[in-house]
Amino acid sequence: MSNQTIEALRGHPIVTGFHDEPTGSIQYVVADPGTKRCAIIDPVLDFDPKSGATATRSADALLAHIEREGYELEWILETHPHADHFSAAGYLHDKTGVPTAIGEKVVDVQQLWKGLYNLPDKFRTDGSQWDRLFADGERFRIGDLDVEVMFTPGHTLASIAYRIGDAAFIHDTLFMPDSGSARADFPGGSAHALWRSIQRIMVLPDETRLFTGHDYRPDRRAAAWESTVARQRAENPHLVETPSEEAFVRMREARDRELPMPKLILHSLQVNIRGGRLPEPEPNGRRYLKIPLDALDGAAWGE
Ligand SMILES: [Fe+2]
Repeated sequence: MSNQTIEALRGHPIVTGFHDEPTGSIQYVVADPGTKRCAIIDPVLDFDPKSGATATRSADALLAHIEREGYELEWILETHPHADHFSAAGYLHDKTGVPTAIGEKVVDVQQLWKGLYNLPDKFRTDGSQWDRLFADGERFRIGDLDVEVMFTPGHTLASIAYRIGDAAFIHDTLFMPDSGSARADFPGGSAHALWRSIQRIMVLPDETRLFTGHDYRPDRRAAAWESTVARQRAENPHLVETPSEEAFVRMREARDRELPMPKLILHSLQVNIRGGRLPEPEPNGRRYLKIPLDALDGAAWGE
């Protein structure tokens, strides 16, 4: 057994995924079986764009699971600022006092979207909306589990993956092996960077359990979120059919040109660059979202 394999097997976290049907997002609770300490990864704040209603049902379900299992929450982790749902990190932090964290490059995403939304000067783009900003290669612990942060940009310029023992939370890099890879065409995205991030994941030990950030249930199969490095390498068409960076980028960019923007990109980024907090209320006590017009390419007339 190689040193790398021995190191990977040193920790075997208990992972529970929660699939959010409206957005196809997977939220995770990852726990150390020894100490019962745990982290939440990528929690969802419910939002109904038709009525403008928000709710905390999904986030509360994570807390209920943690209580039921007798876990103690130690971290609220995000892999990137999401473009398809609101993050519940702010809500969960306010409710539990547990620290939140995201990748350090989130400051660049804040800067970019502060411009797009024309946010006031007082909106801080220093990442202070989170308790901790992680750099590539940084390590921390969940109970006795060692966590390594891997900078894995491409889908966004700030994306990170969390490698925890024999598991890796790879967000929007690869989806399930029947579903290819994530898009890389949002502001700050890069198909080249995504390819290189995927290669970093593919050199993890074959048996590494990979937990993806989304599942859109092709052909209405049951929602799924766990694969392995070996399975991805053997089955994922975006690895098998486009095995070079050049071929992958050509395929990815052609596909992305066909995709309409996610329904909630303009709704969600203004919340997610605030660490999952809704905009401040106006003098009448009500909160409002702001939608910039003609700021993004990707109009899909008729869809
Ligand atoms: Fe995403």
